Amino acid sequence: MARPAIQQPIRPAGNAHAASLDMATFRELARLVDESCGIVLTDAKRVMLETRLRRRLAANGMDDFRAYLALLRAPEAKAGELQAFTDCVVTNETSFFREPPHFEYLTPDMLKRLAEGGRDRSLRIWSAASSSGQEAYSLAMIADDASGGGQSFPWSVTATDISVRMLNAVREGVYGADATRSVPARLRAKYLTPVGHGADQQMSVTPDLRRNVRLGQINLMHGEYRPGQVMDMIFCRNVLIYFQPDVQLAVIGKLLRHLRPGGLLFLGHAESIRSTRLPLRLIRSNIYERVE
Ligand SMILES: C[S@@+](CC[C@H](N)C(=O)[O-])C[C@H]1O[C@@H](n2cnc3c(N)ncnc32)[C@H](O)[C@@H]1O
Repeated sequence: MARPAIQQPIRPAGNAHAASLDMATFRELARLVDESCGIVLTDAKRVMLETRLRRRLAANGMDDFRAYLALLRAPEAKAGELQAFTDCVVTNETSFFREPPHFEYLTPDMLKRLAEGGRDRSLRIWSAASSSGQEAYSLAMIADDASGGGQSFPWSVTATDISVRMLNAVREGVYGADATRSVPARLRAKYLTPVGHGADQQMSVTPDLRRNVRLGQINLMHGEYRPGQVMDMIFCRNVLIYFQPDVQLAVIGKLLRHLRPGGLLFLGHAESIRSTRLPLRLIRSNIYERVE
């Protein structure tokens, strides 16, 4: 899987002098968001979009949202700015060991059984909208811990997201000390190393753990996914909620092509599957097993 290009950090300063975002231009930008990443922005999100896009206007030396829309539509400028635009509009909220019941379900015995159920007795996990990596590294920690550092079964985690900015954060693997408080103390001591001191202290994921976490850019909205492996577990949490119901079903259908029978699909707490036509059995709240 190709690694995404490193992107320049977005300048934090907005353009205070930019005109406001009128409703007609907002709706055209919202349509672009829907087309590029499947996220539906209702009219109530106009101010949120205006605030977030001011940085992009400033970065492009513009003070007019109409001109920015024209830039996104211009074929020559489109690809680069469209990625920056996408990075700006997606919601990246995440945390380590988010939704603890999912991690409580994944006991060392369960992980071992999942590894043994696959073709080559290794455990393959995909975090399919990984944001900045807390989900992927939480999974890596429990897999590495349960396998005795890969001695009893090899494991790998694949972290993908639409946002290059988020994938760069996963690659860096450095988090504010506060963000790591939800990591169980034993795993924190084993897999996170303090960097710096006092209020500026950050925690860095150990190189050994990072080595088994692969990265790639996958837009769940478009085309076939190529995660590179058949998975034992897929985490696709807190992203489907932004999509229309028909898109949600299409995404789940495509994810299932990469999940082995007997493998597990995890969705977010507010996401559930209503279709009875998918080969899935609900085994716990928002945990599904692929049945065939
Ligand atoms: C709210 S975060 C969820 C992160 C993590 N799964 C969790 O539950 O903590 C949603 C993530 O979905 C990503 N995303 C949004 N649209 C996407 C798309 N079309 N394809 C892939 N990722 C997408 C965003 O970039 C963001 O990182």
